[in-house]
Amino acid sequence: MKESFKKFIRQNNLCPVCHMKKLMAATKVHVNGADRFDNGVALTPPMGWASWNLFRNHINEDIIKDIAKAMKAAHLDELGYQYVNVDDCWMSSLRDENGRLQGDLATFPSGIKALVEAVNSYGFKMGIYTSNGTLTCEDLPSSLYHERIDAETFAEWGVEYFKYDFCHNEPIPTLAPEIEKVLIAKKGEKETITLLSEQAELRGDAILLEDENLSPTGKYISGLSNGAGTAIFYDVDVPEEGEYTLTLGIRKAVRKDKYCEIIVNGVNTYALRAPATKGPSRQGRNQTSVYLKKGKNSFLIHNPIGSRMDSAARQYQNMGKELMRATKKVALETGKPEKPICFSICEWGLNRPWKWGATAGNLWRTTPDILPKWSSIIGIYEATVRLYNYAGPGNWNDPDMLEVGNGNLTDNENIAHFSLWCMLAAPLILGNDIRKFIKEDGSVDYNNKVLKIISNQKAIAINQDKLGIQCRRIKTNGFTDVLVKPLENKEVAVCLLNKTNSSKDVSFSIKELTNLGFVDLPVSERYTVYDIWENTTFVAGDNISENLGGHSVKLYRIKAMG
Ligand code: GLA
Repeated sequence: MKESFKKFIRQNNLCPVCHMKKLMAATKVHVNGADRFDNGVALTPPMGWASWNLFRNHINEDIIKDIAKAMKAAHLDELGYQYVNVDDCWMSSLRDENGRLQGDLATFPSGIKALVEAVNSYGFKMGIYTSNGTLTCEDLPSSLYHERIDAETFAEWGVEYFKYDFCHNEPIPTLAPEIEKVLIAKKGEKETITLLSEQAELRGDAILLEDENLSPTGKYISGLSNGAGTAIFYDVDVPEEGEYTLTLGIRKAVRKDKYCEIIVNGVNTYALRAPATKGPSRQGRNQTSVYLKKGKNSFLIHNPIGSRMDSAARQYQNMGKELMRATKKVALETGKPEKPICFSICEWGLNRPWKWGATAGNLWRTTPDILPKWSSIIGIYEATVRLYNYAGPGNWNDPDMLEVGNGNLTDNENIAHFSLWCMLAAPLILGNDIRKFIKEDGSVDYNNKVLKIISNQKAIAINQDKLGIQCRRIKTNGFTDVLVKPLENKEVAVCLLNKTNSSKDVSFSIKELTNLGFVDLPVSERYTVYDIWENTTFVAGDNISENLGGHSVKLYRIKAMG
């Protein structure tokens, strides 16, 4: 068990067994054999602000600083809002002379490191964005194939949140190269070891075939595509530990991109891409640098990518690993405490990221983009409410950034939207203009309705509850829903939702809640029911019935009495 997790259990006085169970549920998915992504952050859903929903591409360093300043002035840090995130369009279309991303030279002229420092000086952590593709959604430089250098750049800047989009993605080929031989050379020396294809142990669909063009061996391994076969070379003896150049001798015959991974000694994985064949010769070479131990080594060669989902999972896992590696490296180099980067996967739910997101990052978008419209909010809620099994401390479903305060959402819609995100244990990343909360004389406009909503501590407490359990829908008739979210101290949150635009009656029985397997609410004659938005408490024995206006919710926190 990771130290961070143990500490979290201790500090919050939680039951380690229940938490391990939850954790096991989350770790059940071992996509590509990966473990749960645990960088010690986002043990409750991350909270902050991001630029996209309101500003789109019209951002600059002054806006970001002004937002951080306004967030501080409105005391949002005290409520748990931690991150100030710059979304798309912060970067220049030019990488710098060292191949590093840099801020737009005209709109972020002071550079991102300076912006991080400014945001930190207001007490917030800075977030940044690129895409798991060759370009961002706004066609600016991105991090696919630049994972290491970009992760290091972000870590060096002191960034603490990273949203990784999916535009311009290039899937990893499911096809594997056909292997004629493997050549090994100590770094800087000539090839010394030749492993012929017939020396490999072949498993699954892997097969030894013949091609007379591959002189002098005439043989090659095929059938390693789609995770269906593996070739293993054992007992590769080298005189000393260190960096070696591994050259795959491949059969050039297929006019498609190819991919394989080489697992050395069962621990280190090296990825290798071979391009679609164009040249006339049959024999191709593909190289990677591997670390070998003194004595006998093994190489397992395969392509574990069998689908688009495997590809997305692997690419996000790669970036997650690079982020963790980079923050550790920077901490080691500077002697300063590590600043882990909260990793936000923005893959729009295309490849069921809830199945593998917990192996790759801290949160994963469940759907395409949100809009400040009731239909969009409800559509996203519907897609996310059923995914309760996948969320938990450290790894969350992300129904997208909040639109509270944007567009023409009514007060009821804003309240319902915020309440649903609280119940869903969703990240609370604001998307509105925080500067509007501050009056001209610099004082806070506490009458601002949007500020009142996003700073309702009792609603936030439901979202930030330490158990980290996403709500479940226990009742629906298509028009109205009843949602239940277990909370610490044997309490429970209940949300009644009217999705339609006319008023509707909604009811539930508290006694029935005590029979729900996932709820730990004691059986009692009487319960205190706190109405979060009315800020009133009443006592109830069993049934609660409400008439809800259109597009609105009731949100309760319920506790057994005596
Ligand atoms: C995608 C994402 C959005 C936003 C934009 C930026 O659409 O889903 O949240 O980041 O890209 O271009």
